[in-house]
Amino acid sequence: MLHIVAFSFLLVVLSSAATTDEFFDPATCRYALGMQDKTIPDEDIFASSSWSESTAAKYGRLETSDGDGAWCPHSPVFPQNAEFLQIKLHKLHFITLVGTQGRHGNGHGNEFARFYKLKYSRDGRNWLQWKDRWGNEIVSSNENTYDVVLKDLGPPIIARFIRIFPGADRAMSVCLRVELYGCLWQDGLQAYTAPKGQIMNLSEPVHLNDSTYDGFHVPDLEYGGLGQLTDGVIGKDDFRETRELRVWPGYDYVGWKNDTTRQGFVELEFEFNRMRMFKSMKVHCNNMHTMGVQVFRSVDCYFKPYVRAEWDPEPVVYETVADTTNTKARAVIVPLQGRSGQKMRCHFHFADSWMMFSEISFLSDPGEGVPMTTTIMLPPAPVPTVEEPPPPLALPNSTVGWDPGTFAMTTTQDTEIVMNISPGASQPVAKLDNSNTSILIGCLVAIILLLLVVIFIILWRQYWKKILGKAQHRISDDDLTVKLSVPNDTIVINNTHNTLGSLRHSNRYERINSSETEYQEPSRLRMKLPDVHHGAENSAAEPLNNPSYHLLLSMDPQVTGNLSCKQAEAKPVNTDACGADYMEPDPSKMAAHHSFQNNVPHYAEADIINLQGVTGNNTYAVPALTIDALAGKDVVVGEFPRQYLVFKEKLGEGQFGEVHLCEIDNPQDLPVLEFPFNIRKGRPLMVAVKILRTDATKNARNDFLKEVKIMSRLKDPNIIRLLGVCVQDDPLCMITEYMENGDLNQFLSNHELEDKIGNPSNIPGISYLTLIHLAAQIASGMKYLASLNFVHRDLATRNCLVGEHYTIKIADFGMSRNLYSSDYYRIQGRAVLPIRWMAWECILLGKFTMASDVWAYGVTLWEILMLCKEQPYCHLTDEQVIENAGEFFRDQGKQIYLPSPTICPRAVYDLMLSCWYRDGKERPEFQQIYQFLMEDAINMV
Ligand code: ADE
Repeated sequence: MLHIVAFSFLLVVLSSAATTDEFFDPATCRYALGMQDKTIPDEDIFASSSWSESTAAKYGRLETSDGDGAWCPHSPVFPQNAEFLQIKLHKLHFITLVGTQGRHGNGHGNEFARFYKLKYSRDGRNWLQWKDRWGNEIVSSNENTYDVVLKDLGPPIIARFIRIFPGADRAMSVCLRVELYGCLWQDGLQAYTAPKGQIMNLSEPVHLNDSTYDGFHVPDLEYGGLGQLTDGVIGKDDFRETRELRVWPGYDYVGWKNDTTRQGFVELEFEFNRMRMFKSMKVHCNNMHTMGVQVFRSVDCYFKPYVRAEWDPEPVVYETVADTTNTKARAVIVPLQGRSGQKMRCHFHFADSWMMFSEISFLSDPGEGVPMTTTIMLPPAPVPTVEEPPPPLALPNSTVGWDPGTFAMTTTQDTEIVMNISPGASQPVAKLDNSNTSILIGCLVAIILLLLVVIFIILWRQYWKKILGKAQHRISDDDLTVKLSVPNDTIVINNTHNTLGSLRHSNRYERINSSETEYQEPSRLRMKLPDVHHGAENSAAEPLNNPSYHLLLSMDPQVTGNLSCKQAEAKPVNTDACGADYMEPDPSKMAAHHSFQNNVPHYAEADIINLQGVTGNNTYAVPALTIDALAGKDVVVGEFPRQYLVFKEKLGEGQFGEVHLCEIDNPQDLPVLEFPFNIRKGRPLMVAVKILRTDATKNARNDFLKEVKIMSRLKDPNIIRLLGVCVQDDPLCMITEYMENGDLNQFLSNHELEDKIGNPSNIPGISYLTLIHLAAQIASGMKYLASLNFVHRDLATRNCLVGEHYTIKIADFGMSRNLYSSDYYRIQGRAVLPIRWMAWECILLGKFTMASDVWAYGVTLWEILMLCKEQPYCHLTDEQVIENAGEFFRDQGKQIYLPSPTICPRAVYDLMLSCWYRDGKERPEFQQIYQFLMEDAINMV
């Protein structure tokens, strides 16, 4: 036999191999697959039934509100939970996340699914039940109609079809909107066959089985499926340690023991979706030689061009060099020399007592590659001339040559067992050579006998297992007991539970409150809005002799007479010249005060310290602990190679730098980039790049770097995300998400309220509901910042960015200051201050807290409902605004409040007024504001 031997002096380790990047990388496999942006066409979305035409399957797209706003099945999903939404992906995809949402329907919908199950199929015929790593089928999901809940799938799904079965624990209507995230499964591997992983008996048994394998199991062999070798999880150096919590030692590896084989190798067989030309195979192996585990000594791989063809007897052989100095686990890359095939069978030869793999992936192109060296015509098959011919796959323990000692078949007869990956079929199917009837009949008989033997063995083993109660069973039992407390990766977007990193139970059966009403409705725990209150009884004397107070009030301002009403002429206070009803608080309500803050902890102002930072002007205040977490440590995003930034246009400019729109081609190929999963493969990523001028002052430079550190830790759907930085050379750059609709102030000033559409100006319209949706997103982002004790200090519409579908993200960029300079009060030698958004205690006492962010939020909400047509207090000069802060302090009823915008329901205006309570402790928290907007304000049309 001609062996093509490839010698290697070093084991090729993942990090050092030039081609490694081209292998499948699960970390970057988080693209939206196209429900939301409709690249999955309507005809590929199918449902078991629909309630109506306007709630058909095609409306089950995340974050869209076409039709009646979601897919709703015809009948209640309880108790069968058999209604499903099916998505066809055509090609095999690696699916890593599922996003779900209920039916919000602009406030008219109140249906959502608290949990769902998933089924998947690779061929559209046989459906497999998805289970998490602990065997749970149920995925907890939505708790209201509007939040997107993202669930990380562990293990990921490799499939062409997905079915989502919304569930309920009682008769109720459910509706669903969905997005799938992942990427094309380039490997094309659709099944592998492997001997069952074994148990290493240490003080605690180490189970090296393939626990997520989704194919068939017969004694000692698994076939027709995929499992841990393709789940994207790489095992640790010490094979006993695991990446997941609450799994058993050895979980990440599949391992085999040398002395259970006779020929000293393990045979793995791989079946691909079509014939492919193989460049290389990457095998992630353990090498804890101190415990008898080493990388394989050599591997020989055989190929066949299609499932029913003969094996090419000429293998690719690859030898490794033993490494008994380093116990690091490693990826060994086996060059496959352009050989082609649809099936590949590899014999991995032991170098030590044990061999353990955690992942196997392939680099291949669909195509012909190097032709086979033997004829592949069928039949008759050519008699192989190899000394050790590659055996065709057959069932274990068969009378036709199964060698349990080698985990391999040794027969060379014509009949071949063809893998049937369908779980619906009970056993592999035999493909027969009809040119030779006697052989055919012989083979059939052999197969039938073989099947009988297998069935007998299975029954026999099960019988004994039952009787003896094996250790494996005990593990399963333990497994069952941990199911209910297993953490699951959950990300709730826009929700009160922003649980990046927080743990949730995946089994919601335990958590559903049986006392809930028959039909799902948004929580009825409506907050009682506080009445207007001047806090007379709370006006405990602030230190009037506070130096900051005197400093500011006694100062001769450099900028005076700032009358910046955008549309109306400056008129005396208390007129309606700004185009809005000018509303004084209702004195009758002042005494009857129900605070938002009842029974909630007060803002811990004492814990807050200031941190000057961020591109020039603004200042953040964060508690010492948070500073450590946010700014004190290293930047947690990678250094980005700036040559990949393709300049498109300038977005803005400020004192110390500029913001540019740039394009990054093939962002998934740049591992340093914090990968944004909501773009589609093949599309460039648009980013905003903030660049510090090279001649910026040292302070500006320090602030810039501080901003980088802080921003790199902020991860929330409503906070602008830092994707990468260039800080090793000048000019310093920060790369953030690009928001195509610019800042919220400009965006809204270019809109009219929807009922005014049709006017000659043709200005785009926007509805009250959308305005509330915008405001709720800002509250959600602020809720996140507040959860980190992070004080923004400059919340305003100018510092919020608008993306597609009215997505809002809070940002802060000093560079907007040119455009909005009139919003800031300039004090010589001191920071410019956004006094019209600042709470009285910020202006007078320099005290910035989460509660003063709430004040600014009130002003921002006012701007939103005014569609940014006016500057806040446009009739007041800057000095009068500061005087007004003094009135808030004195609390004698002379303070002036922003008036209620015309379109503003009373309760929403009351919310604003509560944000401007004199006592910061009485102002609502962002969580409450968010909940009020999502559940109550949205219904006040
Ligand atoms: N201007 C400044 N930053 C921006 C961003 N991230 N997206 C759009 N415009 C911007």
